[in-house]
Amino acid sequence: KENIYILGIESSCDDTSAAVLCNAQILSNVVANQEIHTEYGGVVPELASRAHQQNIVPVVHQALEKAGIKKEQLHAIAFTRGPGLMGSLLVGTSFAKSLAYGLDIPLIDINHMQAHILAHFIDEEHQQKPSFPFLAMTISGGHTQIVKVNSYFDMEVLGETIDDAVGEAYDKSGKVLGLGYPAGPEIDRRAQLGNPKAFKFTKPKVDGLKFSFSGLKTAILYFVQREVKANPNFIEENLNDICASIQYTIIGILMDKLKVAVKQTGIKQIAIGGGVSANSGIRKALKDAEQKFGWTSYIPKFEYTTDNAAMIGIVGYLKYLEKDFSDFDVMATARLKL
Ligand code: KG4
Ligand code: ZN
Repeated sequence: KENIYILGIESSCDDTSAAVLCNAQILSNVVANQEIHTEYGGVVPELASRAHQQNIVPVVHQALEKAGIKKEQLHAIAFTRGPGLMGSLLVGTSFAKSLAYGLDIPLIDINHMQAHILAHFIDEEHQQKPSFPFLAMTISGGHTQIVKVNSYFDMEVLGETIDDAVGEAYDKSGKVLGLGYPAGPEIDRRAQLGNPKAFKFTKPKVDGLKFSFSGLKTAILYFVQREVKANPNFIEENLNDICASIQYTIIGILMDKLKVAVKQTGIKQIAIGGGVSANSGIRKALKDAEQKFGWTSYIPKFEYTTDNAAMIGIVGYLKYLEKDFSDFDVMATARLKL
């Protein structure tokens, strides 16, 4: 059987990434992070788009070089069509089109949210793949979704956030506490040293499988402002406990919704993805749920959970097998639905 080589390109937000796959195996996965946004405490779309333009050629070169593959050996080029920032998506889309056109090979457009989920099907040693149907929860700085996955290309969004993403809740809380951006990893580190019950934050009341995090962010802001007024050293003296309490609340929200989804569907296989799946709290809660409720949980390798082109490549490979190719007039779509 012939080996299929796919180049994946991801540029939906602030990471420029290219990956080369041989069938479902990753030969290379190069990611250029954009430091530029740190000083602004969030992603600045115009700067992201410019940085993608600078990064895309060297990143693709590196991915091919690391994989030991010449561009003439590629069978197809897969790229992120959306959802994401328009200016960022346009860079990857135009590049992928030009290269595929030049090499005269198929172009395959990929939905970024589908890719976060199908990243679980990358061939990895000692990594179990979920079987259908399963529930996928995508949690990152840009997304919070629970999806019922019936097969590779039959997915149903059961619920998503009506305002902020869960990663934003981490990052914005961190900003209130004077932590750097993105604050998720630092809050997680400190949370493990603090008392999760020290402070109580109320969980948002949203129906069914909808999420909401903007109220929590405001509650934390007001809480901190009030306490600092009474004691200017409040944050320094209680930082680990505050972080632990925030984390306890957020993980509680995620687990509550997963329980609703399991109850609603009868499916106990849970796959997570997105940057927040690195969180120690969610990992522990899922392990506990395996014992307590008989769930099975799947967490991909970290480099395949945050934004990366390997996940774009694996969907590209699966679509290649189906001969599901794109027309060259396909457009970047900022609000692409799953
Ligand atoms: O998937 P990702 O790299 O980019 C997108 O947003 O698509 O996710 C980044 C998000 C940030 O909000 C970051 O604070 C959060 O993931 N994050 C974490 C942890 N590691 C990354 N949040 C909580 N705990 C962590 N350990
Ligand atoms: Zn993402």
